[in-house]
Amino acid sequence: MAGAATDHPLLGREIVGRIGALGAISETPENLTRIFLSPQHRAAAELLLSWMESAGMRAHLDAIGNVCGRYEGDRPGLPCLMLGSHYDTVRDAGKWDGPLGLVTAISCVADLNRRGRRLPFAIEVVGFADEEGVRFASTLLGSRAIAGTFDEAALGSRDEAGITMHQALSQFGLDPAHIGAAARARRELHGYVELHIEQGPVLEGLNLPVGVVTAISGATRLAVRLVGMAGHAGTVPMALRRDALAGAAECIVEIEEFCRTDPDGLVGTVGYIHAMPGATNVIPGQVSFTIDIRAAADAPRKLAVTDIVRQIETIAKRRKLTLQVDVTHENRTVPCAPWLKRQVAEAVAAEGYRVFELPSGAGHDGMAMIDIADVAMVFVRCRGGISHNPAEHVEEADADAGARVLLRLIENFLPRTGEAKAS
Ligand code: GLV
Ligand code: MN
Ligand code: MN
Repeated sequence: MAGAATDHPLLGREIVGRIGALGAISETPENLTRIFLSPQHRAAAELLLSWMESAGMRAHLDAIGNVCGRYEGDRPGLPCLMLGSHYDTVRDAGKWDGPLGLVTAISCVADLNRRGRRLPFAIEVVGFADEEGVRFASTLLGSRAIAGTFDEAALGSRDEAGITMHQALSQFGLDPAHIGAAARARRELHGYVELHIEQGPVLEGLNLPVGVVTAISGATRLAVRLVGMAGHAGTVPMALRRDALAGAAECIVEIEEFCRTDPDGLVGTVGYIHAMPGATNVIPGQVSFTIDIRAAADAPRKLAVTDIVRQIETIAKRRKLTLQVDVTHENRTVPCAPWLKRQVAEAVAAEGYRVFELPSGAGHDGMAMIDIADVAMVFVRCRGGISHNPAEHVEEADADAGARVLLRLIENFLPRTGEAKAS
């Protein structure tokens, strides 16, 4: 591994310790699950607030559940460089997806604070409340609230237990009427930078601890409902059945085949399926499932979504199933801003690492933040490229490398106007 050339203290140990502490806050001790607005989500928010305060930040929870910390610059009230990542998880998650970027940003601010270092801009760190979109159909709820693009209609959406987002926010102790106040203006931000685990195998394959992200791939998520006819598993002849689950199975294999043979590197996933009434001896009458389609460019993704929906329609028609398809989420591909990406690359090089650029196949809060700020990202190598899996792992040395790069970026950061003046 390339050596580091900085005189900053090691932050990796503190980061790994905090990742462990956050990872212990889970619905079930053996499978890390920390879903938006759950009691565990609240406990994690409290811990993050305390870390922000001890790092010298003023910290508060906003009305959607984002944990927000601010470290003033050399004068109060200056525009900020915003850093952050999310603190919700998928089900049976790894510990690093989201929290790594968040605790690294807090550790960097703590280090500045210990040295009494103030910069000609403020630093804000945000722990976004919901990036994964596990509980309600919509995603990026925290960053959309900050970007001022939160859709109030989402407050009426229900989780699996029938609880609306409005009710869940109130139970969490938040006032949904104040979500609009979480929105920030473009003039308040110099930019948004997120550090995140790569969640793929590229950096490991190249033996590099960090990478510079070029763009975040766009995504479309669909909710599909197929309705056939429930019936007796012993009496209805095969030719007379309208089995919604068998229809869904055909659709799923079709989606896999479509994406596998696509030349543009399209990826498609059916990650959730629910069959009703759900008994061994009953032909399934109704099935709901989700589809997640992603590609590095928008045009092939959109074309693929159209083609896939057409194929599902054909399958449903042939099997005499009623079909409903709803788009639950759509995000365009977000390019990282060249001027900000260059500063990330300079920080990587200054720390003694080879600069390597790569796109992000995973979604990130930058997809919402792009509406109010230029965006850049730093990736940190993860073991085996494994993510959304309890085996997700980052070595302490790589967490430290990521922190050094982020700290170097912060301390050398030139807001865009300053940069324009200098060139
Ligand atoms: C978030 O992790 C996503 O890419 O779905
Ligand atoms: Mn993430
Ligand atoms: Mn994730």
